[in-house]
Amino acid sequence: MLEDKLKELTTRDIYPFHMPGHKRNPAFAFAPSPVALDVTETPDTDDLHHPTGVLAETMALAAGLAGSRQAWLTVGGSTAGLLAGIAACTHRGDTVLVARNCHRSVAHALALCGVRPVWLVPEWNAALGVYGRLSVETVTATLREHPDAKLLILTSPTYEGVVSDIAAMADAVHAVGATLLVDEAHGAHFGFSPLFPRSAVTLGADVVVQSLHKTLPSPTQTGVVHRCSDRVDAEQLAYQLAVYQTSSPSYLLLCGADRCLRLLTARRETLFAAYERRLTAFRERVKPWLCPIDGDAGKLLIPCENGDALSARLRQEFRIETEMSGQHHVLAMTSVADTDEGFDRLANALERLRPTASAKALPPPPPPPQAMWPCEAADKPYERVSLTEAIGRVAAREVYAYPPGIPLLLAGETLTDALAAHLLALQAEGVELHGLTDNKIAVVT
Ligand SMILES: Cc1ncc(COP(=O)(O)O)c(C=O)c1O
Repeated sequence: MLEDKLKELTTRDIYPFHMPGHKRNPAFAFAPSPVALDVTETPDTDDLHHPTGVLAETMALAAGLAGSRQAWLTVGGSTAGLLAGIAACTHRGDTVLVARNCHRSVAHALALCGVRPVWLVPEWNAALGVYGRLSVETVTATLREHPDAKLLILTSPTYEGVVSDIAAMADAVHAVGATLLVDEAHGAHFGFSPLFPRSAVTLGADVVVQSLHKTLPSPTQTGVVHRCSDRVDAEQLAYQLAVYQTSSPSYLLLCGADRCLRLLTARRETLFAAYERRLTAFRERVKPWLCPIDGDAGKLLIPCENGDALSARLRQEFRIETEMSGQHHVLAMTSVADTDEGFDRLANALERLRPTASAKALPPPPPPPQAMWPCEAADKPYERVSLTEAIGRVAAREVYAYPPGIPLLLAGETLTDALAAHLLALQAEGVELHGLTDNKIAVVT
């Protein structure tokens, strides 16, 4: 039973260097009894989709903290925010520029909205096997080729914490009359301390989507969509949020998000000063085993020979659960809710294990050609065939590794020899690919 599993977890002394950002730290708890707070829309509790009372206040706090014109809470995380934000900024048939390291929810939005994606490939970090920043040169060159583009969608920070030059992107995009939507799912804490980059909200983006639960002390599924300019219609954004979200939002989640935003409004400086002190001391102590900061100092990237082996040792020998393990790195996530004891435990572990970076470079996924728009392919009948049989065929669903959920092959793209070999090599390295059933991929018939 799930409840037993969850309760058992509370009795085991495993330190969470992963989401959600409250780190199950009782100092950030909010519900004496979940049942007592699980209500519905009443005159006292307001309405997520038509906020005029206490939830309107919460959303005003979210906008005030980030510096946006208007903010909406989501109970479907950034996923709901991205679906709604992209729907609000596009019309069917529009050309949309999209960074290739987008989250799969962006890929779903492209198919649902019937738009034509033009892919922009960010820099590649071959040592870690992850995408880096998207260069402004790539954006300006692509805009020259596609002056009709209506929207640029990019991920900043990335799952690993790398940020792109949002201000320059915003200038480039606005110069041709397009809008900029930034997936800032991992950057809800940006701007709250000089240790962290500024939020895209204050750097010229038009829509910014954040997950509160990833890096702030707020329950899983809570997010915020910020409208930062008049290029985006407020009514359309609110409408699309109602389309993509439940009509029965959980008041437990809303209460947790409200608590988080009120806490930050009242005690942001103190909380972030303490976090900054702990994080800086930790980074200094274990510097030889961490990648240098490349954007978000809160993301701890530990290079190693084998991510799964290192995360297993951290779990088994040191009772530390990390956020994810890649082929050549382990990612640990931190937040204001981390304790001195937690940082000390991870520092002790790294000092004992002394992981060493792999010398082997990891190749980027070879970009597949686009044969159809995602909406066309997602609509067609499909069959499932093995990866080798699928070479030369058009994918009907995306294939991705989770985490981080970045699609390697999207609906409408043709599986090439090179990409099939890349996917098989990932599987041989123990990377779990999603989007396959019985190890077969969905291709258009
Ligand atoms: C870059 C990025 N964007 C969006 C999302 C979706 O966020 P959520 O889980 O809050 O729906 C994720 C989730 O991991 C992500 O990594």
